[in-house]
Amino acid sequence: MRFLVLGSAAGGGFPQWNCNCGNCQRARAGDPAARPRSQSSLAVSADGDCWFLLNASPDLRDQIAANRVLHPRHGKRHSPIQGAVLTNADVDHVGGLLTLRESQPLNVYATRRVQGVLRDNSLFNILNPEFVERIALPTDETVALRRVDGSPSGLQVTAFPVPGKVALYLEDATAGENFGTVAEDTVGLRITDGSKVAYYLPGCAALPESLQQRIGGADLVFFDGTTWTDDEMLTTGVGHKTGQRMGHMSMSGPDGTLQAFSGIPIGRRVFIHINNTNPVLLDDSPQRLEAEQAGWEIGYDGMEIRL
Ligand code: MLT
Ligand code: MN
Ligand code: ZN
Repeated sequence: MRFLVLGSAAGGGFPQWNCNCGNCQRARAGDPAARPRSQSSLAVSADGDCWFLLNASPDLRDQIAANRVLHPRHGKRHSPIQGAVLTNADVDHVGGLLTLRESQPLNVYATRRVQGVLRDNSLFNILNPEFVERIALPTDETVALRRVDGSPSGLQVTAFPVPGKVALYLEDATAGENFGTVAEDTVGLRITDGSKVAYYLPGCAALPESLQQRIGGADLVFFDGTTWTDDEMLTTGVGHKTGQRMGHMSMSGPDGTLQAFSGIPIGRRVFIHINNTNPVLLDDSPQRLEAEQAGWEIGYDGMEIRL
């Protein structure tokens, strides 16, 4: 199985267009220790031939251009991309679907809830239904990902609800503390080729015991690396929301990811969906060192992992 990190940053990317925080200033200045990163997406393949996107970011056009294995290979119209699997309906994870127009066969997998959000937004009708099949992904059931010709891709996914939050633009302020969030709003994915097992959780607000047990023993976990501290957007002066308010757990502290993962046996652990305010983005920061010493890799655009 091969994984490609197409985009390792959270929504907004790094640097974010309107952000003037210290991190974004360094990235914009071309500081080699503050490498730019595009928005949250991976690609996965069992055979190196056909690929599935795991989320489709607004930067998808450039991400495809930057990764040769995703380029057309034969005929006048072709793509190795057979489809996309979505973990939520956030803009950073569905915006790229609009790039996949042009009457190209594709299979789009997402929970019924997320499929409903796409269906209710007529902009996504640009994905020609004659070519694009929208497949409801049940939770806690294993589904074989199909190539567009219907044949098996060699990949199987299992979606499962994780603690999280409904997409920002769907928040219902009258619905109480969780803004109307339902279980199918945010899922994690277990991905296997029948031999190796990987997990992809770009949005996850907590790591309860059940989730720790689920991911224990995996060969690889890509995990929500949005913030280092919960109040980082406030302390850097760029916003008023905490990580928890956005549906993300932080890396540091007693309730943080480093601590929560410390006893779980996992082959490789990689942070993705990293917010531009997070100090681990800087190669020379003490927080980067601390995360690496805790056994984490900090995802970057173009990172490839073969299992
Ligand atoms: C998130 O991951 O919290 C969202 O992508 C934020 C957003 O929609 O901007
Ligand atoms: Mn996001
Ligand atoms: Zn910034």
